[in-house]
Amino acid sequence: MKMPESNFDVSVNLTVGSTDQASTIDVLIVGLPDQDSLPPSLGELDRLGGSWLTRLVESGQLRGNRGELTTLGVPTDTGPKMLLVVGLGESELSRLDAFELTAAAIRSLLDRPRGRVEVRFADEVATEHHDAMVAGALTACEGQALYRSEPSLKLPTEIAFPNLSQEQLDRGRVIGESINQARRMVNEPPAVLYPASFAKTVINLFADSETSVEVWDENRLADEGCRAILAVGSGSARPPRLVIMSHLCGGDEPPIVLVGKGVTFDSGGLSLKPSDAMIDMKCDMAGAATVVGVMHALSCLGIQRNVIGLCGLAENMVSGTSYKLGDVIKTRSGKTIEILNTDAEGRVVLADTLDVAKAFQPRAIIDLATLTGACMVALGRDVVGAMTNNTDLLKQIESAAAGEGELIWELPMFRHYDDQVKSKVADIKNIGDGRWGGAITAAKFLENFVDELPWVHLDIAGPAFADQPKPHRDAGATGVMVRTLLRWIES
Ligand code: BES
Ligand code: MN
Ligand code: ZN
Repeated sequence: MKMPESNFDVSVNLTVGSTDQASTIDVLIVGLPDQDSLPPSLGELDRLGGSWLTRLVESGQLRGNRGELTTLGVPTDTGPKMLLVVGLGESELSRLDAFELTAAAIRSLLDRPRGRVEVRFADEVATEHHDAMVAGALTACEGQALYRSEPSLKLPTEIAFPNLSQEQLDRGRVIGESINQARRMVNEPPAVLYPASFAKTVINLFADSETSVEVWDENRLADEGCRAILAVGSGSARPPRLVIMSHLCGGDEPPIVLVGKGVTFDSGGLSLKPSDAMIDMKCDMAGAATVVGVMHALSCLGIQRNVIGLCGLAENMVSGTSYKLGDVIKTRSGKTIEILNTDAEGRVVLADTLDVAKAFQPRAIIDLATLTGACMVALGRDVVGAMTNNTDLLKQIESAAAGEGELIWELPMFRHYDDQVKSKVADIKNIGDGRWGGAITAAKFLENFVDELPWVHLDIAGPAFADQPKPHRDAGATGVMVRTLLRWIES
């Protein structure tokens, strides 16, 4: 089957520096703090229209509530054609504010073609967060409508950041593109993105870089004893893969290994999901896509660290060759697992993938997975569930997440839960006793495959994929945790 190709070229022309000719600016984006008078920085624009901005602010028509956007036509031919006023609020802008305000401002302009757009409120943002403005602008330009004949987001010909350094612009571009890379892979339909095509995408992505990519096909997976990954993929016409990305720029230090769940489509297998629950299951490879996004950023930024990225890729389907309830699988590690629900497939894929991670003798393993609906029941749609065998390591991840404004919350890993994954037939079973505490029992299962190595499990089932748009981004894939992990690795 030949699939249509998505028009996924988000090449926005990003520049630093200003122009002397204001009239060549289509939209000038300025910031307005939440106060009763016009800030002096807007004085020149104010004079263009005979104190029009002062009048609007003093009459309360133009407000600086954080996130409020007001578009104004400029009533003279010497200034920019349009003004977009971004409410900055009262307090200092965080890194997340810088990201989301810029994104929301740019996104509000994509309904029609624009020429040069200038983002002029960087002086209100701490210099260290300037890169987040650029990253936000780029993520605004990527949406889920990859297959609309008429692009729904009309990208401006140029987005200029007058008061940014070239370094911050370049860094922001890399971060934005890395987030978008992860989002794009998640947003692609499952007939386009399946284990082999995911692997191919990664090979192409790192073709001209220092990052080396190794792909294990089904034969290699069999040779390596990855029977758990093969079992999950056994019902599919699309065979599984394991992708290993190596970014080794950190000398002799032991590596960090990032592990992603890459179930390119989760039908539930013989424990078939109802349509309502299956509808978004192309997103079940978001963990793997996040790992690709982070590795991309490390590579482009030349980060001096040793990091390995592993993606365990399989399609969970229904057929005469599907793995079954009651099956017992001997995993790569030698531990046996009893399958009692084929829809608890992510942990089965991760069992082997984590075992491959262990072979690198890492100083830390972080796994990312759209693992359980139970995690969404516990924490809602927007918060990542974090579970660990090493509190210190989790503290580091939490502090990186706080710096980026990404929301994560720890769930407990009491020994109390251990019994729930014990099997009567095999070493462990792939579901807990009933659905209570399902995010934790899933993590308890995974814990069996990391031994004593420092490990954090991030359940991104809720925040990886949004059913509603936000002012700063489209619905669909979000790229959650790319920023947090990059920050943690750099720290
Ligand atoms: N991929 C799903 C989890 C999921 C649900 C991700 C909703 C994103 C949104 C996972 O493979 C799954 O099906 N988990 C089951 C586990 C259960 C059978 C123990 C679940 O959460 O219901
Ligand atoms: Mn499932
Ligand atoms: Zn799944």
